[in-house]
Amino acid sequence: MLGRTLRIEDSAMAEAAIILGTVEQIRTLDAGFHPPSDLKDDAYALISTQIKGQNALVITGATERAVLYGAFALLRKIAEGESTSALNEVQQPSAPVRWVNQWDDLDGSIERGYAGRSIFFENRSVRPDLTRATEYARLLASVGINGCNVSNVNADLHILHLGFIPQLARIADVFRPYGVQLGVAVNISMPKQVGGLDTFDPLDQKVAGWWKEKFDEVYRQIPDFGGVVVKADSEGQLGPSVYGRNAAEAANVIAKALRPHGGIVFYRAFVYDHHLDWNNLKADRARAAYDIFHPLDGQFDDNVIVQIKYGPIDFQVREPASPLFGGLVRTNQAIELQITQEYTGQQRHTVFLVPMWKEVLDFDMAAGGQRTPVKDIVAGRSFHRPLEGYAGVANVGLSTDWLANHLAMANLYGFGRLAWNPDVSSQTIAEEWTRLTFGNDPEVVKTVTNILLDSWPAYESYTGPLGLQTLTNITGPHYGPAPESQERNGWGQWIRADHDGVGMNRTVATGTGFVGQYSPSVQKIYEPLANTPDNIVLFFHHVPYTYQLHSGKTVIQTIYDSHYEGAEKAADFVEKWESLKGHVDDERYEAVLAQLKYQSGHAIVWRDAVDDWIHQMSGIDDQDGRVGHHSNRVEAETMELQGYKIFEPVSWEGASGGKGVVCVPEAATCSAQTKFTGAAGWYEIDVEYFDLSNGESKFRVSVNDQAVDEWRADMLLPGKDPSADSSVRHRTRGLALRPGDVIRIEGTPDGAERAPLDYMEVLPLEH
Ligand code: GCU
Repeated sequence: MLGRTLRIEDSAMAEAAIILGTVEQIRTLDAGFHPPSDLKDDAYALISTQIKGQNALVITGATERAVLYGAFALLRKIAEGESTSALNEVQQPSAPVRWVNQWDDLDGSIERGYAGRSIFFENRSVRPDLTRATEYARLLASVGINGCNVSNVNADLHILHLGFIPQLARIADVFRPYGVQLGVAVNISMPKQVGGLDTFDPLDQKVAGWWKEKFDEVYRQIPDFGGVVVKADSEGQLGPSVYGRNAAEAANVIAKALRPHGGIVFYRAFVYDHHLDWNNLKADRARAAYDIFHPLDGQFDDNVIVQIKYGPIDFQVREPASPLFGGLVRTNQAIELQITQEYTGQQRHTVFLVPMWKEVLDFDMAAGGQRTPVKDIVAGRSFHRPLEGYAGVANVGLSTDWLANHLAMANLYGFGRLAWNPDVSSQTIAEEWTRLTFGNDPEVVKTVTNILLDSWPAYESYTGPLGLQTLTNITGPHYGPAPESQERNGWGQWIRADHDGVGMNRTVATGTGFVGQYSPSVQKIYEPLANTPDNIVLFFHHVPYTYQLHSGKTVIQTIYDSHYEGAEKAADFVEKWESLKGHVDDERYEAVLAQLKYQSGHAIVWRDAVDDWIHQMSGIDDQDGRVGHHSNRVEAETMELQGYKIFEPVSWEGASGGKGVVCVPEAATCSAQTKFTGAAGWYEIDVEYFDLSNGESKFRVSVNDQAVDEWRADMLLPGKDPSADSSVRHRTRGLALRPGDVIRIEGTPDGAERAPLDYMEVLPLEH
């Protein structure tokens, strides 16, 4: 990096040197040393100075962890080619709590993890080899993250078993050198379910005693244990409501047991009823966190942090900032962000989330009439709270690139950078990350930064624009489009689309009253339809499809256009990336190219599923005549079939035209063919097929019996049945076709995967 070989010494100072040490340690070398300002906690300083008469670059802080952060900061500067000759800077984190959460289960699986198995657990034990956990700790420290909860918030009741604590201690041992504190998720019913008591009532003395004894033991073995995360009374997890107790009582009984040891309770505000009554127009899941936690403000112990998801629903592609941030002024809070892309493409789509997070962090809650952006609240600045910060659900796995998509790592990096300093711009974070990941080639920096910055707007456009939420399959894997799944169930992610209009009326005047949970100034933005920004309007208001937005366009035309624009942007990412051939190493070039190509195909699936669905709901045609009319498309069910039979997916928007074809059980190969009717010329053929998780079918395309392409359906996508989750587009480029040519798609099924097909598109070659 420096082009020089440095020697490591631990005391002498006979020549110019880079000196690392706490302020106290450096003073033993040179008693006159003074950092530029008082360094507290994790703050570090990088200073070019003289020590013992020699030029020195000093990396220092109050603690060893701070020095480590300083060392990583210096490495960052060097890697970015910044000058390090005259450094004099102090960097201080915005908030003391900068944690990641892993939702790892002890059997080695990861809830909402998309990058392989757990780096911590396998077979209900901690892995014998913790190399990856050690590397993870280093990676986290390099972006200033100081804590990691390693186990699923849907907690395993045995995580604190006496026999398991020594295993957890092994993880803490590999975290320790990197200043990362260990945490685990607990369930408040443990004292009864596995602890031998007849109750888990948080106000019962026996229960308090059980938690105390448990944590005394934990700290005997893990003296720097960080704390626990609690999910209670939520999505089937038992909670204090069993005994008529509240969240503060539940949090405090655990907090009191942790307190003597310096541990923290992260009590999650993600508490809601998932059996809401769809027929009740006043029912609203978005209200839950504030309704439950606001009345408890001031009742939580001071080592409790209420961990609040950024929006009132659940990690959607766009949500307003949770009103609870402004509703807890005497309670510690942390914002919960989701690095693992559960509702944002599960890392098979590149979606750089930093701009989205920044919109929430910059949002002014105007609590008490004061300027109180969320980033100031969670820094503890607005309400003078001592213990606040960030929790990011990361869910890295054993995949060698951690998140199974090289570009997705920008989110983990960005999370750390924002938790340290939420004022850094998205552009800066994207550029920094690109330089550190791919080097300083200006073409690469420019192109990757552009792709990253355009990716969230693109994803939002081809999934759920205007505040509709992601519109993904909410009763299934939360991946592909399934707008119908939002409605008519108890989950409360409703968009209330009917024949006349769409959107949830959350106003105080006529709706669910959710808007009333915000401060008066924020209410002025969201209560009147006329003031509500277009990009969130349907989250707050039910409007006719013909309602004219601020943009001048109707709601329905905006939805149609947005999906077309988003899919075009996704296609554009492929071209942008292709311009980097030779600028990026081949391995990563090919991996990202394959990912972006898949994404651009799936963006079309999204576009068509949502546009067709809303078209059917509204009965209003697309002004540009695109929706429902795909002139180059030949549906498989209309082709000449051999061995294939027609099927309908569970949800009609899961296949183009509501139908596809699948090989009958007895067929070894099947085919679908059609005659080309267009003009002679050069074309590409896109085949839309379904790649299920229960087999690896083969496909072959031939023209007049001459094979022109073949491939395997070998991706790992959610689902065993054909649906929009498993729909994949394969492109065969550069084919000369003449009218009358017979195009045949042959499928060879594998096991339960019966080579399912949706359609074919023959597109004139543009280049
Ligand atoms: C989402 C997610 C669950 C998770 C939950 C939570 O609903 O789908 O898998 O358990 O959030 O944050 O607790």
